[in-house]
Amino acid sequence: MVRIPEISPPTLEWIGDETGSLQLIDQTLLPRTLKVLDIQDCATLIDAIQRLAIRGAPALGVAAAYGAALAAREAATPQEWDQALQALRASRPTAVNLFFALARAEDIARREREKGWDPQRLLRLLLDEARNMHRQDQELCLAMGRHGAELLRDGMRILTHCNTGRFATAGIGTAFGVLVTAHAQGKDLFVYADETRPLLQGARLTAFELEERGIPGALLCDGAGPGLILSGEVDAILVGADRIAANGDTANKVGTLPLALAARHAGLPFYIVAPTTTLDPETREGREIVIEERDPREVTLGPEEGRCPPGFPARNPAFDVTPAELITALVTEKGVASPPFSSRIQDWAAE
Ligand code: MRU
Repeated sequence: MVRIPEISPPTLEWIGDETGSLQLIDQTLLPRTLKVLDIQDCATLIDAIQRLAIRGAPALGVAAAYGAALAAREAATPQEWDQALQALRASRPTAVNLFFALARAEDIARREREKGWDPQRLLRLLLDEARNMHRQDQELCLAMGRHGAELLRDGMRILTHCNTGRFATAGIGTAFGVLVTAHAQGKDLFVYADETRPLLQGARLTAFELEERGIPGALLCDGAGPGLILSGEVDAILVGADRIAANGDTANKVGTLPLALAARHAGLPFYIVAPTTTLDPETREGREIVIEERDPREVTLGPEEGRCPPGFPARNPAFDVTPAELITALVTEKGVASPPFSSRIQDWAAE
């Protein structure tokens, strides 16, 4: 097995015992500034989630698990804890990992409440659970990396979208973790990173991670990807997911769907890499997935003034849905599934 070095400081980390705090890298400031936030309460964590200081589906799940513990530290009554969980649940709507983590915290709280309200004990249990999820996510990333790397050959040119690496998970990443693993195995890869409008997770975070890991690559405007795919300059497309419906339809960062359409047209493989915590068997198909609509000013303002006429309207859907029929394979920690995906998704989610 190859050794993949851990990079410090980690994306998120609980420091200390039950009186401690959640430390996380403020990703809005990267790549210019590496600042670690010290989060002591649930409201500050919700703010960090909403402004994308912490982001990426698996990282959101782990952060939410710590959030449930912070809520137990603050709540004077069970009702206050419920309200805090409701606020965490409302922080971002698309990444199902966040809901998965909160559902696990609620199961623990339900069992505990049958014995009476003991916030100190609940805090201890929820913190243990969050630490478990944290460790588990690191292991899931390594397993996805191993399965996915088998799909990559020496010399491949890969196109990826958004950021799916260490900044999006508690480990080496999902799609990016596959690239890191294949690179560590000695495979020679070249990675095209879409810049990922409007918040530039590809330019700010994926390019940063490519440099950190010493993987050669180049940045692309989002609109350039499909053209490069059709002109024969790309061999495979690897992306992550925020939610995978029961039939395999997959929500991911807006701009993923044009890559899948272009890949199908060019006859290239289009892979989704995600842990089983991103599966949502309760949602039958992509049409039912709630797509986050963010502040239009993220589109119109951006880093510089004068990008468009002042006050001009904009829409800002943060995700799109790729139909299952455009996906060549789903890579999870449990293995690689080819279409049709429904029965594998049911089995994986039930295990
Ligand atoms: O809005 P973001 O930055 O949270 O969106 C992240 C993505 O869309 C990622 O591709 C997805 O969460 C998979 S990450 C491992």
